[in-house]
Amino acid sequence: MPVPIPQLGSYNFVPETKENLDWADLTTIDLSLYGTPEGRQQLAQTLLKAVREDGFFYVKNFNISEERVNRQYSIGQHFYELPLEEKLKHVPEGWAEGKFNGYVPAGRRVLDPVSGIRDRVEIYNIPKFDGFFEHNHPAIVQDNLDEIEEFSKVACLCIGFLETLNVQYQDLHSEILDPLHVLLAIALELPEDTFTNIHKYERKSEDHLRYMKYSKYTPEENRKIGNLWIVGHTDIGSWTLLFRQPVAALQVQNHKTGEWKYVKPVDATLTVNTCNALSFLTGGYVLSTIHRLTSPPKDQEHVDRLGLLYFSRPNNDVRLNTVKGSPVLECEGFAQNVFEEGGHPVPTMEQWTFAKQKWQRTPKNIRGDLELETAEILPGFREKIYDDYKVAV
Ligand SMILES: [Fe+2]
Repeated sequence: MPVPIPQLGSYNFVPETKENLDWADLTTIDLSLYGTPEGRQQLAQTLLKAVREDGFFYVKNFNISEERVNRQYSIGQHFYELPLEEKLKHVPEGWAEGKFNGYVPAGRRVLDPVSGIRDRVEIYNIPKFDGFFEHNHPAIVQDNLDEIEEFSKVACLCIGFLETLNVQYQDLHSEILDPLHVLLAIALELPEDTFTNIHKYERKSEDHLRYMKYSKYTPEENRKIGNLWIVGHTDIGSWTLLFRQPVAALQVQNHKTGEWKYVKPVDATLTVNTCNALSFLTGGYVLSTIHRLTSPPKDQEHVDRLGLLYFSRPNNDVRLNTVKGSPVLECEGFAQNVFEEGGHPVPTMEQWTFAKQKWQRTPKNIRGDLELETAEILPGFREKIYDDYKVAV
């Protein structure tokens, strides 16, 4: 029976925690400074500190209204209110091989082998609108697809036409990702289009917008899983954009000190982390942000946590060799990435993406399985354990 489509309405965020948590001290990229060469230089240096030391950084003044962001949260919320059987119709074919677009249900990982408690993380991924991906969504997403496209990036086939009408969209790519690519190039003293050239919207890549729901556990369940919802890990692509999230659960590991700290929600900002592909492309100079999800503090333990994220990735055909010609990388001694150092074949972004996503889909996934958690994803790259939890399997 068809499910009626709700009106969007407004999305109500839960109040922030009153607890005085051990918050990370993160830098902010203020894009209002991006308009001048001096401003861009300053931001490029700020970015370097973030990608070498802090892990996460904030971005503010990115020209996308809070209302548009909140409407995306509303779509996500309505999606998760659908009956499970509706959502299950959108599990992607080839899921076990690492196909990622559509719905991924909860319960893929056993977090506590004794009690059998599993993860409660649901994912809905919406791919790019570049003509390479089908868009068959449940009605709540399908009926708002134009708005989702305008939020992510309008496919460039239409852009030429829209420009003739003087219509400009403020989307995640033009307002946030393109500036970040330029700032990184400036920081490494490379031509400014070095990274934008390998993240072209009209070329195929596995970017996606994600609505992500973490359902709550009881205090007793949280205790059994060591208060750890998702273990420390790094992301696959270039950048992950996380929209403001009031439920305190995200933690980052400082690259210098190794300390885990909470990432504080800050009004009118988004939180960004750098990921594996950027690290490969810069010979390991840009560090992949190490992060995890813990159970929220007591005053937020009773709520579900809804996330809105965008995962940016290089084009699928990009081979992930270290970029050449950066005086910074040469001077600092970052000439080769892990594949090049070991004399291994350097994967394309597509090969890297599906190798890691397939590993993430390993059927019998039990926390504490060292063989799985330290598996070699491709020759030259082995996963690591970043947490000090001890679980007997
Ligand atoms: Fe992540």
